[in-house]
Amino acid sequence: MCGIIGYVGKRSALPVLLAGLGRLEYRGYDSSGVAVGEGKGIRIVRAAGNLLRLKEKLAAEGPPEGTWGIGHTRWATHGEPSVSNAHPQRSGDGLVAIVHNGIIENAGALRKELSAAGYVFASDTDTESAALLLHSLYRALGDPIASFVAFGRRVEGSFAIAAMFSDRPHEVYGIRRDSPLIAGERDTECFLASDIPALLPYTRRVCYPEENGIVRLDRDGLHFFDRDGCACECPSVSVSWDAEEAQKDGYRHFMRKEMEEQPRVVRDTFLSCSEEACPLTEEEICSLDQILITACGSAYHAGLSAREILEQLVHIPVRVEIASEFRYRMPLCSSRALVIVISQSGETADSLAALRLAKERGFKTLALVNVRGSTMAREAERVVYTRAGPEIAVATTKAYSAQLMAMYVLALHFARVRGCLQGDDLPLTQAARELSFGISRCLQGEEQMQRIAQQIYQLHDIFLVGRGLDHTVCMEGALKLKEVGYLHAEAYAAGELKHGTLSLIERGTPVIGVVTQPRLACKTAGNLAEVKSRGARVVVITTQEEAVFAAADEIVRLPRVHPLFAASLAVIPLQLLAYHVGVLKGLDVDRPRNLAKSVTVE
Ligand code: M6R
Repeated sequence: MCGIIGYVGKRSALPVLLAGLGRLEYRGYDSSGVAVGEGKGIRIVRAAGNLLRLKEKLAAEGPPEGTWGIGHTRWATHGEPSVSNAHPQRSGDGLVAIVHNGIIENAGALRKELSAAGYVFASDTDTESAALLLHSLYRALGDPIASFVAFGRRVEGSFAIAAMFSDRPHEVYGIRRDSPLIAGERDTECFLASDIPALLPYTRRVCYPEENGIVRLDRDGLHFFDRDGCACECPSVSVSWDAEEAQKDGYRHFMRKEMEEQPRVVRDTFLSCSEEACPLTEEEICSLDQILITACGSAYHAGLSAREILEQLVHIPVRVEIASEFRYRMPLCSSRALVIVISQSGETADSLAALRLAKERGFKTLALVNVRGSTMAREAERVVYTRAGPEIAVATTKAYSAQLMAMYVLALHFARVRGCLQGDDLPLTQAARELSFGISRCLQGEEQMQRIAQQIYQLHDIFLVGRGLDHTVCMEGALKLKEVGYLHAEAYAAGELKHGTLSLIERGTPVIGVVTQPRLACKTAGNLAEVKSRGARVVVITTQEEAVFAAADEIVRLPRVHPLFAASLAVIPLQLLAYHVGVLKGLDVDRPRNLAKSVTVE
């Protein structure tokens, strides 16, 4: 993934492609490239780094002049950010060039099959499997639409693809499944893009090809086909958004848009972490006697949740340390310990220092990061990637959810390898796989959280209490409320309240209880009754039976979920709450004061 643009018209394609990619830059990317029709072939130019690098390369090599082409900004998923992994990817003889957003889930199987058939791969990308598959289908069928129909039947996963065939001048093709792709036309020009901002300078009427649908752009206009290759209609829709609204898919803020992306991100992370080989061998996993997780902010909270899960599933001692503390301590760890550093950016200075310290001390290190090619990804001995895609809002939402999911998959794998799962682990795997549905349902509860935000946004303090995993969710919720709502929020282990904090509870003090762990529910319910009797206004976020919570003034119901994975659902209402508190206060939710997205200084 990340940004796609396609053009067929009468003017030189390159400026249109570059301008379109420029308008998609906000999505974040680490390399870019264009393919432009030229005479009887396709000329491809790619560069690692930002668009400026691509433009420099084009200037040095001489810009292609053709009037049809495709372009891409890539956010690395399969393979490091590099020229060979950048898109467009092409088939060896240059017959096919494609750009792709999404994940080809059966890329491994396709790679084997195509290699056996004599195809040679030149990149680490899943996209190249798609390019070569399309090449082989086109060679066999001779017709682009028939080839795309067959392609749709063979490929598993999500994709938005723009493609060109060197023997089909003045034609660009698109196909999509579970990933956005739009088309538009103006006079004699046709455009294809992954996002609306790229098309806004040319047209405000856009067509959304149906799921598995195919589109051809040629000098006569746009032509749509269904999954079986039959010509079909695709009515255009008028877009009234301005460029900034379009970047946010019509949401008011990136944070809200990114929250909405969580079901997909969690599903993609589950799939990629389940399918990619674990970076530790079975022998290594069996030899571990301790795990130490270190991270900052929300990533630290993801680590705290992971501790509960690893200890319960893998029966291994787990320590979690704030990276800025860990780096100045003399960590005592066994020589058979694994140190896991969790980071969205892979650049956070304290987490990086912690990683380096762990390496210096001779521990095995594993980085769980979102950004391919980031410093931590390069320096850690082993890497696991989350699939959150670029996150723009300073407050993390989707990257945190992806971190939780990656840790679930890792914990399940460790437990399996170490023989800790008595009997069948399928129900657990199934529960993890289905989390994306639960998250979607939680997001539908926005109205209730908006109402609760109305009740609290002018107050000064709020408390969040829970036990075990629920406490870790409270910590993340409190951080969000502070970060984007500028509201003093304290997360407490519910059992600790009476050791001091209870004295702060008075009439009307808001207290949110998170209760998702059946074996702890009655205990937390008791603590909530204590605050209620001192006048607190109690909101309970729960998967449990309402009857247990006589103390609750309001109940936020969560879908049923395996308790081990409940953090993934319970955090959603808290994200929504923090977001609406920030909005009601008129704050810049995406860029809270004093904070940076990536904290690269100590
Ligand atoms: O990029 P990282 O995951 O290493 O960042 C760690 C923290 O700075 C980050 O999670 C921060 O706490 C978020 N802004 C919280 O929303």
